Amino acid sequence: MHPIIARAQLSPNVTRLVVEAPRIAEIRRPGQFVIVRRGPGAERIPLTIADVDRVAGTISLVIQAIGASTHELTSLQVGDAITDIAGPLGKPTELLESGHAVCVGGGVGTAVVYPIAQALAANGVKVTSVIGGRSKEWVIYEEELRASGEVIVCTDDGSYGRPGFVTEALKELCEAGGIDEVFAVGPVPMMRACSELTRPYAIKTTVSLNSIMIDGTGMCGGCRVAIDGKTQYACCDGPEFDGHKVDFRMLADRLNTYREFEQVALERWTAAHAEAH
Ligand code: NAD
Ligand code: FES
Repeated sequence: MHPIIARAQLSPNVTRLVVEAPRIAEIRRPGQFVIVRRGPGAERIPLTIADVDRVAGTISLVIQAIGASTHELTSLQVGDAITDIAGPLGKPTELLESGHAVCVGGGVGTAVVYPIAQALAANGVKVTSVIGGRSKEWVIYEEELRASGEVIVCTDDGSYGRPGFVTEALKELCEAGGIDEVFAVGPVPMMRACSELTRPYAIKTTVSLNSIMIDGTGMCGGCRVAIDGKTQYACCDGPEFDGHKVDFRMLADRLNTYREFEQVALERWTAAHAEAH
């Protein structure tokens, strides 16, 4: 059992749970993730490890409530516990040793770039973070990222920071030059747009793919993605890949296939939850 030590609402549908998991806190490296099961028989949910506290033996999980299972997880309170946390899974980020990295976080994806930015800065790399949200209340991890370097905040509606998508700020940085690598994590259209933007500048671009995951071990095939025309598995070959080689269309199609199931499950969960209260 993994007791919940702290809980924070980061944006209208994004919650951070700080959970006891000493073994994972000890060995996890940036870029890795865990698969969480709320309780016996519950759905398995892949989540990034946004942060760790090795002394306290805790990990921070950032969860966007979109389906029934993620709503169930985000409704947990301090004192509740999560039954299973498997991990750390996936390959750690290949970190630059010097130079300038731009870390682009779209919405909840900002929690995924945060540990990468932190580790790059610890390596002595200059880090510029570009983070975006629909409006001010959807911007997360701004203060935490400031500890690693400059942060450019963008909002779609212009309610905070620069108006517009993260890609507009990224374009200006690319034009200014001197970037060694871009890390982009967020919705699929954002990662695709970032990768297309950096391609003509020949800037290495790494994306973290949020494909459907089940076992997290390379056995079930659920997370398969096409990289440079070849099948790879996001759970064990990734989750980070060269954005210039990813077949984003296939990724979007596979994610869309499950959206209808998720919607039905969410409606059932909402109805059951309303009855229980
Ligand atoms: P969102 O839709 O609110 O977008 C966040 C920001 O991304 C926007 O403010 C904008 O700056 C940028 N963006 C969005 N669409 C863009 C486009 N077409 N071109 C350029 N920039 C664009 O994001 P959200 O609701 O926080 O995220 C939801 C999505 O993120 C879900 O689909 C989820 O599956 C995905 N996600 C991905 C990862 C990952 O590891 N890649 C992790 C968690 C969630
Ligand atoms: Fe099953 Fe990756 S989640 S192969």
